[in-house]
Amino acid sequence: KSLLQTKIFGKEVRFYDEIDSTNMEARRHAEAHESHGMVILAEQQNAGKGRRGRNWVSPKGTGIWMSLILKPEFAPEKASMLTLLGALAGAEAIKDCTGLDCRIKWPNDLVVNGKKVCGILTEMSSEIDYIHYVIIGMGINVNADFFPDDICHVATSLKLEGKQNYMRNQIAAKILFYLEKHYEKFCNYGDLRDFVKEYNLLLINRGKEVKIIDSNHTFTGEALGIDSEGRLLVKDAAGQITEVMSGEVSVRGL
Ligand code: BTN
Repeated sequence: KSLLQTKIFGKEVRFYDEIDSTNMEARRHAEAHESHGMVILAEQQNAGKGRRGRNWVSPKGTGIWMSLILKPEFAPEKASMLTLLGALAGAEAIKDCTGLDCRIKWPNDLVVNGKKVCGILTEMSSEIDYIHYVIIGMGINVNADFFPDDICHVATSLKLEGKQNYMRNQIAAKILFYLEKHYEKFCNYGDLRDFVKEYNLLLINRGKEVKIIDSNHTFTGEALGIDSEGRLLVKDAAGQITEVMSGEVSVRGL
């Protein structure tokens, strides 16, 4: 806790040895209380949630399983931009604390040496036009020694890449520090204009061929970077640029 350099984020922390999912706990908490900036952390999750309804394997003691509750006053459609800020803060914190070259795979996976070390799941309350809370859930594989055969070619941990153990509380505190700083700035304009450059510098897809898989149409093109709304700009063979929203699409190619 002494590592924390924030004003609001993480000043109140709930810590669990074991929980279903820190995102679900954060939601239960946010429904009932004024909890802007509160952080839920767990040693182990028994029902960790990933994107697209997948589960997130969260074994005891090896990772950062963390959810941050925010009660912002802006429109719900902006919540997805917070996920990108989470990715940026995560990449910066990992770089600072480990020296590893941590990159972002749009919209919000963090990748070291081509393999995923961190995933982010942002959820919000379901009121139509007033946003009650946003939960930014981050899962980081820190000191895991191995991954099952079926995922070890796509997943890794900071320890496997850096050949040493890292302090989870130090990394978590750094993430909250950067995220709070970015969040304050973000609230000024309500878009990502201040972050486009930094984000794109860390973007592993940049200049690369990506395949965009949408529910009704699939195409390939060169990823140019994000715009101030957090959309990925993709240029196809004919030179036409499409703005891809993060919601339903899946991006292939690293
Ligand atoms: C992804 O699919 O890449 C997103 C994974 C998000 C996992 C984190 S771990 C902490 C928080 N609680 C959850 O149940 N999920 C998120």
